[in-house]
Amino acid sequence: MSVSDIDKRARQLRQQIEHHNYLYYVLDRPQIGDAEYDRLFNELKLLEEQHPELRTPDSPTQRVGAEPLKEFIQVRHPQPLFSLANARNEEELRAWHVRVGKLLAERGIDPGRAALVTEPKIDGLAISLVYEEGLLSRGATRGNGEVGEDVTMNLRTIHAIPLAVRLQAGEQPPAVVEVRGEVYLPLAAFEKLNQERAAAGQPVFANPRNAAAGSVRQLDPRVAAGRPLNIWCYQVGYSEGLELDSHWQALDWLKNHGFRVNPHVKRHDSIEEALAACRAWEQRRPELDYDIDGAVVKVDDYKMQEALGIVGRDPRWAIAFKFAPSTAITRLLKIGVNVGRTGALNPYAIMEPVAVGGVTISQATLHNEDDIHRKDIRPGDWVVVQRAGDVIPQVVGPVIQKRSGKERLFRMPDRCPSCGSHTVRPEGEVVFRCPNKSCPSQIVESIKHFVSKGAMDIDGVGEKLIERLFGLGLVRNLADLYYLKREDLVGLAMSTSVNKQGKEVVHRLQETSVANMMRALDGSRKRPFHTVLFALGIRHVGSINARLLASQFRDIDALMAAGEDEISRVEGIGPVIAEAVRDFFGEPHNQEAVGRLRQAGLSFSQEKEEPGELPLAGRSFVLTGTLASLTRAEAREKIEALGGKVSGSVGKSTDLVVAGINPGSKAKKARELGKKIIGEKEFLRLIG
Ligand code: IVH
Repeated sequence: MSVSDIDKRARQLRQQIEHHNYLYYVLDRPQIGDAEYDRLFNELKLLEEQHPELRTPDSPTQRVGAEPLKEFIQVRHPQPLFSLANARNEEELRAWHVRVGKLLAERGIDPGRAALVTEPKIDGLAISLVYEEGLLSRGATRGNGEVGEDVTMNLRTIHAIPLAVRLQAGEQPPAVVEVRGEVYLPLAAFEKLNQERAAAGQPVFANPRNAAAGSVRQLDPRVAAGRPLNIWCYQVGYSEGLELDSHWQALDWLKNHGFRVNPHVKRHDSIEEALAACRAWEQRRPELDYDIDGAVVKVDDYKMQEALGIVGRDPRWAIAFKFAPSTAITRLLKIGVNVGRTGALNPYAIMEPVAVGGVTISQATLHNEDDIHRKDIRPGDWVVVQRAGDVIPQVVGPVIQKRSGKERLFRMPDRCPSCGSHTVRPEGEVVFRCPNKSCPSQIVESIKHFVSKGAMDIDGVGEKLIERLFGLGLVRNLADLYYLKREDLVGLAMSTSVNKQGKEVVHRLQETSVANMMRALDGSRKRPFHTVLFALGIRHVGSINARLLASQFRDIDALMAAGEDEISRVEGIGPVIAEAVRDFFGEPHNQEAVGRLRQAGLSFSQEKEEPGELPLAGRSFVLTGTLASLTRAEAREKIEALGGKVSGSVGKSTDLVVAGINPGSKAKKARELGKKIIGEKEFLRLIG
């Protein structure tokens, strides 16, 4: 091949690679597989290695590879990057809009139906990209708005940032165009990065914004290249040779020239519509794979923007509608341990109350000792807590910089905090257990489980009452509930308090609450066999396994007489569950409880369940994102055991989409098709 042929081929390859890059990173609609892409990329790399003189600065091979810097160079922005005033609630947003109308009128502009644009407010790092004659010449951080740091070499590693403006055939690039946007780290990458850092004894990032900023401000571009940073572009700043009349037009221009613009930006005719969009953003927040801390509302028209001007650092033509932050830092006061109904010791964080995601939390589960050590969480630490959507609050990790040095490793207690028995950690398990079958905590917890909503659903018998009745010896096991007498309960002292006069008042159980309780207990006698079986609290036997067992054995005698082998032959029931069932019914006190419950009139048999009667029969599910309390495989198993189907993609026949943390494109598709999307909490409720 002649040099000119090679040059031609290199150009062709560059164009193809950039195109596929664009399809993959900007549009999220790849057309070729990784292998094919790699083949093109390697061919170009080889050509350029053999002919370095043919290399161009916008070649896709030139994204990574710059030398580490000693320090960043400060650069002045061609036009200052402003910040945004905040509206903390809807009134403030409406007030802003009224002010905009007034100011425009004062300046002789008819505010009429001034169009507004709403966008997500991405919680990342603001950056400015300058393109000269269509080529990326400089990328900088916002800095103080006037002067930022030149981080071009790091920004070049972000594949969604075009190295050259994408032009239409025959189109000339503007002489200069400055594109602004927010660089962010997707939530899944943020979590993974923090896990790796915690495991390596490095401080964790408090939030995705810090992680993004930390990555972009690295002197060694290889660090940034190793982090899957991404960008949403939201503004055209300084330009020469580009005529635009409105923000909406600017967004359009960006979209048409290879820049990644958030697909959910919208234009509205009224503040009410804009407000509805802001609310929708807040709702949608748990479905996104990036963090947003609010929505931005902008006046669309550039002439209006200019007329409105700037006060201090904030333009009057835009405002941020803030959401409650989803991460926070607080003090871990203590690690508490409670004992569950199966004897598992469950550690939990007791924290200084802190607001996260709109609610105040002071407790969070800590899973198990290994997890606590893996995250290196120590009592007394400052910790990052996270609450995404309707997911249970989590302790992400410690803020190591804030350690005093006095924090000591946490150890699970070697004695049960409830009964004092020596705890055991069975081989291969992460959980510590109290082996004592008559441990008070286990009994109380199993009674709480028995009466709970998904189980026997005995309204009127609350947790406090159970604890009290157990403490008084009136209820020693599940069956005792049904043998309580009215006269044992009425007048029972439940708690004491001190009134305004400083006198102690004793609160006693009243006739009416006792009557309610008796009625609820009575009503629960009619619950079907599978519900009773679930309510017994056999380890590993959730509501679905209870259904499977009940429909197979049809009565308790058959189940109690069955051997482990026979039980594990039931479709969907494995040897671990079979062993747990055997162990449970092997205990004399459980046999006795079953006998007394049966005597009390509870159902211990049922007709065979037809497949058509299964609660999810005929319903088609799609799973997306990570569920906190079960794996994908487990979720699928549960759905199928209840008669439902699980499909890999959203389509016409989909009934329900279950969205966990960081759902992907399936949630997007579901929204487009108007399919119902439910979160983890609702899903758990559905499957019992
Ligand atoms: S517009 C007036 N649009 O929020 C123009 N900013 O609090 C100011 N941000 O520094 C920027 N998403 O880092 C704009 N869609 C969006 C944004 C956004 C995030 C950030 C940006 C800015 C900060 C101001």
